[in-house]
Amino acid sequence: MKKDFISIYDLTPAEIETILHKAAEIKGMHPAAGGTYRPLEGKALAMVFEKPSTRTRVSFEVGMYQLGGHALSLNPQESQLGRGEPIADTARVLSRYVDGIMIRTFAHTRVEEMARFASIPVINGLSDLLHPCQILSDIFTITEKRGDNYRKLKVAYVGDGNNVANSWINGAVRLGFALSLACPPGYGPDAQILARAQAEGGSRIILTHDPQEAVEQAHVINTDVWASMGQEKEQAKRRKAFQGYQVNADLLSRARPDCLVMHCLPAHRGEEITNEVLEGPQSVVFDQAENRLHVQKAILILLLGKGTYDA
Ligand code: CP
Ligand code: NVA
Repeated sequence: MKKDFISIYDLTPAEIETILHKAAEIKGMHPAAGGTYRPLEGKALAMVFEKPSTRTRVSFEVGMYQLGGHALSLNPQESQLGRGEPIADTARVLSRYVDGIMIRTFAHTRVEEMARFASIPVINGLSDLLHPCQILSDIFTITEKRGDNYRKLKVAYVGDGNNVANSWINGAVRLGFALSLACPPGYGPDAQILARAQAEGGSRIILTHDPQEAVEQAHVINTDVWASMGQEKEQAKRRKAFQGYQVNADLLSRARPDCLVMHCLPAHRGEEITNEVLEGPQSVVFDQAENRLHVQKAILILLLGKGTYDA
């Protein structure tokens, strides 16, 4: 298995299945259920945050703690990264102290550079391009709700063709499920990711400008904010461009009656999703958020352990 987890493509379908099964097992061993499982005793994870976070930060930190290890957080204001110390130097220094690095940043090349220079595993906790931990965890949530048959389901994504959308595309290609995306003109997913998907995933990956077409017969509808971290100045312009791309009761009624509604959070109620749908019976957003913890643990054990769960 690869040293790093930067993209869904870093994992084979078999490795993804292994992680999903391990996450289910780990969820059953949660301390709240009386479990003690400490395979990362003595291990440390450095978490580099160049963008804000609630779920990723807390799930990685608590995950390491509950597995017997330790996590520490570094942000530009409190570390030399903010004073211009190169990623390449930071990667080599951290490799002498800790057993793994999780990085959340802007340019995806910073994650890649961290991985290139670190001798320890590097995990992408979100870049402008990808959010692989989120999608792995979301696929786990789908299996929890709909069983192992998830590859036969149709997933829809409505909204911005951002890091979350790009990782959904990678996930659909890697695992072979159908994905229809509806994005406004000019706000589609990354062109290279899409081209690879259409070459490898064929007609299962569809991009349209029509949200109703995307959600037709969907088993799952996903959405995400219209302006991601770092795009705050574009908020007003984007709000205009995304009119008609809201996940609301009307759009939901065009999907299958048992369609799940997903959102990685944080959400902007009244923009990409209505409060009614986010808080409604088909929404699984808080289970999704919880599952970040269980899936993160499964990723950490695999990468910071010896690349296998029984080592
Ligand atoms: N979904 C997600 O990654 O949330 P945070 O930005 O709070 O980590
Ligand atoms: N697309 C969002 C995801 C937040 C978890 C962002 O990058 O801000």
